[in-house]
Amino acid sequence: MNEHANHPGFRTSLLEAAAGEPLNPTGNPTMGEIIAARFSRRGLLKGALAVSAISATVSPLALMTADQARANGGSAFSFKEVEAGVDADHHVAEGYDADVLLRWGDPIFPDAPEFDPVAQTAEKQRRQFGYNNDYVGFIPLEGSNTRGLLVVNHEYTAEQLMFPGIVEIVDGKPQIAPATKERVDVEMAAHGGTIVEIRKDGGKWQVVKDSPYNRRITADTEMEITGPAAGSPRLQTSADPTGTRVLGTINNCAGGVTPWGTYILAEENFHGYFGGELPADHAEAVNYKRVGVPQGTYDWSNHYDRFDVSKEPNEANRFGWIVEVDPHDANAVPKKRTALGRFKHEGAESIVAADGRVVFYMGDDERFDYVYKFVTAGTYDPDDRATNMDLLDEGTLYVAKFGEDGRMQWLPLVHGEGPLTAENGFQSQADVVIEARRAGDLLGATKMDRPEDVEPNGKTGKVYVMLTNNSRRKDDQVDAANPRAANAFGHIIEIAEDGGDFTATEGAWEVLLKCGDPSVAEVGASFSTATTANGWFGMPDNCAIDAEGRLWVSTDGNSPKKTGRTDGLWAVDTEGEARATSKLFYRVPVGAEMCGPLLTEDMETMFLAVQHPADGGEDWEGFGRPSYYEDLSTRWPDFRDDMPTRPSVVVITRQGGGKIAL
Ligand code: FEO
Ligand code: CA
Ligand code: CA
Repeated sequence: MNEHANHPGFRTSLLEAAAGEPLNPTGNPTMGEIIAARFSRRGLLKGALAVSAISATVSPLALMTADQARANGGSAFSFKEVEAGVDADHHVAEGYDADVLLRWGDPIFPDAPEFDPVAQTAEKQRRQFGYNNDYVGFIPLEGSNTRGLLVVNHEYTAEQLMFPGIVEIVDGKPQIAPATKERVDVEMAAHGGTIVEIRKDGGKWQVVKDSPYNRRITADTEMEITGPAAGSPRLQTSADPTGTRVLGTINNCAGGVTPWGTYILAEENFHGYFGGELPADHAEAVNYKRVGVPQGTYDWSNHYDRFDVSKEPNEANRFGWIVEVDPHDANAVPKKRTALGRFKHEGAESIVAADGRVVFYMGDDERFDYVYKFVTAGTYDPDDRATNMDLLDEGTLYVAKFGEDGRMQWLPLVHGEGPLTAENGFQSQADVVIEARRAGDLLGATKMDRPEDVEPNGKTGKVYVMLTNNSRRKDDQVDAANPRAANAFGHIIEIAEDGGDFTATEGAWEVLLKCGDPSVAEVGASFSTATTANGWFGMPDNCAIDAEGRLWVSTDGNSPKKTGRTDGLWAVDTEGEARATSKLFYRVPVGAEMCGPLLTEDMETMFLAVQHPADGGEDWEGFGRPSYYEDLSTRWPDFRDDMPTRPSVVVITRQGGGKIAL
């Protein structure tokens, strides 16, 4: 989700409206404003970024492995850094190709219609690639590195970028026309996920349109609810008196692929899809207030009663979960795994612990919300897929408490333990998982600066937590794990679980990086001095650990005004003398957010997701249009195949073949 969606005249951003804390009432400038003034002075809006220091030579360590490079005290990354900046195209490091593999609207079945922006229907969209690709996973078929299933989440829809002719200028400001039912149906069909087979042929990846695995999952796909909240009266509706069947999944941000090869979609900002009003004394009033329901960003409740809380008050309890899909069966019913808790799930990356139990790390992306992990009760059996298929229904959900002393505890969210009792409104484990946030409140979990991806590193035993920003943290709310007030640029925390055991209930932690421009003292950024003017970034969001145990970080919210650069993908050293050195590998078109990222096990392919290019309310010549469609005369001049001018999955390969950045 992108804060740019909040530009004047458009709907309030989901995140802004849902923030649990009021804006700082003082007139003090925020750090973002100080930086914005700095970049305005440099005249960045008029052209490319003038960088002050560039290291543009190929490292002599280029021929070493990452481990050898580290042993020599150098960076584990050898590529020539991209120049940070702002324009309408994307850019990758020299020696690599960045190819658009799939764009919103591309047909993914043999009989699917070609994309036509002025004749969109839900029926067509259900046969085409969805909008705003976020998580990207790759599930090899028969162990292959050149044939597999690409699984992609479609987080949300940006109508002003999707539908020509719906924006009207009122008093100089763009306004979106209320959605018709037909438009809502297209939006619902553009949400969810895509499963599509891809193959590498002659060094280039292609979509296999006639694969039996290809599938679109949407906001209408029938799903099963499993785990402790399944069948709870709080999940029962007029359409589903059993509380075990639900239609669709929404706002699927990041996700994961499990060790047993299933696909995880994490339901994040579900509150924005619900409208109507709930009486103040309604039994769900406290629960819904804690997650911001109803927020009414979308018009779905005008056309579908289930999204109107005054008509179907329990429907919103059926969203905010982790969804698991078996991608090897296009008819498999997706399952909402309630044991992993209900909150604004960013993602769920997992690792098999030494004893065979599987640990899922999760962020709850809201200002002042929490970091979680889930440890399965059962153990993973690589030789028995059927046994693994329901591992996510039993286990322990934990919430993180970060101490001032660099220690941390994982506190179990278990009914009957500590304050999680009937006295506090928790009658059962169903109540605990439905109101996971309130359970975390009572346990004293640490309020974080918007936890996004949390990813374990199987090679080093560490865990990385992306904290994207929190402009509303006040001076008296600063703590060791969230060390900056008005945290405009975010930070990254590194956890070392005790004994290197991912199931441990205690660990140590430290801040790996405080983000932002290290040349501005007030920012307090902590990149290494080897980091160039291109290498620093703000707003870490998604991340990936590659097969060599290296960290890659993608960002959401860098912009001409805020950091003088677009979002992108940075390679971050975590080990040895190069620790906290960051280098820019790829950057997106202006207005876009960088999602994904993922490297295949052989490290020869990187998949990236470019979300909402051109968003941000300004005209960008490179797109040939403003960032919304005022009228039909601005008919999509951006149909170039070689640029991610629509939400796109981009594939990075090394020219001539070989591993990425080694
Ligand atoms: Fe959808 Fe937290 O980013
Ligand atoms: Ca994001
Ligand atoms: Ca995200």
